[in-house]
Amino acid sequence: MDVHILTIFPEMFVSPFADSILQRAQSRGLLRIHIHNIRDFATDRHRVTDDLPYGGGPGMVMKPEPIVAGLHAIQDTFGPAHVVLLTPQGERFNQERAKTLSQYERLLLVCGRYAGIDARVQRYVDAELSIGDYVLTGGELPAMVIVDAVVRLIPDVLGDAQSAEVDSLFHGLLQGPVYTRPVEFTGVRVPRILRSGNHAAIAAWRRRQALWTTYQRRPELLQDAALSPQDLAVLREFEACDVPAHES
Ligand code: ADE
Repeated sequence: MDVHILTIFPEMFVSPFADSILQRAQSRGLLRIHIHNIRDFATDRHRVTDDLPYGGGPGMVMKPEPIVAGLHAIQDTFGPAHVVLLTPQGERFNQERAKTLSQYERLLLVCGRYAGIDARVQRYVDAELSIGDYVLTGGELPAMVIVDAVVRLIPDVLGDAQSAEVDSLFHGLLQGPVYTRPVEFTGVRVPRILRSGNHAAIAAWRRRQALWTTYQRRPELLQDAALSPQDLAVLREFEACDVPAHES
């Protein structure tokens, strides 16, 4: 996958992509990240990227010309991309959207700043996304969040091909508790079933725990999760007695 990022703060992107899974994906040729400075596409003498808002009010608005020139130049050089604008007004980014974005060969993320971006840029973007109902100083951190969530879903990026499968939300449920050694810590023992070597029983226990965690913490997620008849029976059991799933 090729990810292009259009920003006025290109230096912000150096270290987040230089470590761990994102670094490994790049060195294995599965991911190429290209950072482009919006200022480089401004044609006036001072390479201005923002201006006062029409109608008055606080803050500066990002000018449309450098952004649209950048979108054209990048796609003329590298080929058409799925263009995503990061703003607090966008549709909410979630795991489902991460899966969809991971299927594109080329993504182009546009980071907004200041009081917003001139509305005429919207015609040139395919999606406008927000990472949550809070306002950050710009779209740079959201772009990093999205790249991280998307890249780990590209086939072969994660060492163990299964790991994304067990993630919270991969199948629409939250992940249940996980344990490692020691078997006992502060008097709390790892549930016996996880040490039993019985893979079918472990899978069933994990599913039940995922259902329980989701039922307790984010019950609204159950509406859209793919649930089997067994899952529905487990949920009816929770509803009937509201007791935690079997632990040991
Ligand atoms: N820019 C500022 N806040 C944002 C948010 N929550 N999501 C996406 N882009 C943003």
